[in-house]
Amino acid sequence: GQLEKEGYPHFMLKEIFEQPGCIHDCMRGRINIDGNSVVLSAVIDYKEKLLKAKRFIIVACGTSWHAGLIGKHLIESFCRIPVEVEYASEFRYRDPVIDENDVVIAISQSGETADTLAAVELAKSRGAFIYGICNAIGSSIPRATHTGSYIHVGPEIGVASTKAFTGQVTVLTMLALTLAREKRTIGEAQFLKVVHELNGIPEKMKQVLKLNDKIAELSKIFTYAHNFIYLGRGYSYPVALEGALKLKEISYIHAEGYPAAEMKHGPIALVDAEMPVVVIATQNGLYEKVLSNIQEIKARKGRVIALVTEGDTVISKIADYCIELPQTIECLDPLITTVPLQMLAYHVAVCKGMDVDQPRNLAKSVTVE
Ligand code: G6P
Repeated sequence: GQLEKEGYPHFMLKEIFEQPGCIHDCMRGRINIDGNSVVLSAVIDYKEKLLKAKRFIIVACGTSWHAGLIGKHLIESFCRIPVEVEYASEFRYRDPVIDENDVVIAISQSGETADTLAAVELAKSRGAFIYGICNAIGSSIPRATHTGSYIHVGPEIGVASTKAFTGQVTVLTMLALTLAREKRTIGEAQFLKVVHELNGIPEKMKQVLKLNDKIAELSKIFTYAHNFIYLGRGYSYPVALEGALKLKEISYIHAEGYPAAEMKHGPIALVDAEMPVVVIATQNGLYEKVLSNIQEIKARKGRVIALVTEGDTVISKIADYCIELPQTIECLDPLITTVPLQMLAYHVAVCKGMDVDQPRNLAKSVTVE
């Protein structure tokens, strides 16, 4: 009912706006007030197991799989351990190479996704150690795992996942940081910098949420579109995938997420004056490269909607529309850039008159194959 939506027209919008509080709740009791340590009880309890892992395998579906791609980047860069990210539905039927030297991280908002649960059971039967990252407390996946960390973002009602994604990325960041410190693969200064920045994310998310009216206006322009392309590189590539998935799920517009540099190997053929191209172009390591990717799209007359860092004067001259976002460090950028893409998908769907909270053909949790 209207009461539970607390005045918001849809659960999805309410859940988008809850994110600063959710991230705070997710970090509560895990990052101390001074911001100089991160404590996950699962890592304390199973330190040996986790530190001796030769490889991590992340299994998940949908949006949780996208969080897994960011997790791979975080764990590999901080901990220097190889990480594979698998669709649970593929992993379970592939007779995967897995043994007791592997740690499997199962990511699931509901904790009830049938494919993810089956992947967990399979990995467990092969002797792997299983770490769950779930939201629904007491659900099937956390009960089937050896240990794990809840994301603590509260119940998610909207079928299109929003706050669970940012909660999953937050837990994966804390996990990567904790393991890296134990393994001494991260320098103290870098560790403190990331923790400090992570503490500041909820405030920066509040800044991003202030763009809601602007994004609602922008969305009206694009209700005509039948296709969208989303581009990003590095940490932003999974964000591009997630942005495209959000749009597909609730507006029924076909959207493709792509690593920006792969455009030239195919998808650039799709670009013409009708094609909206969302580019995550915040100022991080690959900024210059993304800039030239934008120029390639403009040369084909694509309509570029760029997510940029506040004060960017270069891209604002080339892109058709710019969404300015607060700056953060590269590894935390997904927590900022995901939010405007959630809002864009939401408003395009609302403009098209779609049932945002209950999109056709989709279920909140897929408990059967
Ligand atoms: C369904 C939902 C998605 C979700 C996916 C995985 O398809 O509609 O939003 O990302 O399942 O769900 P899980 O609960 O395992 O994260």
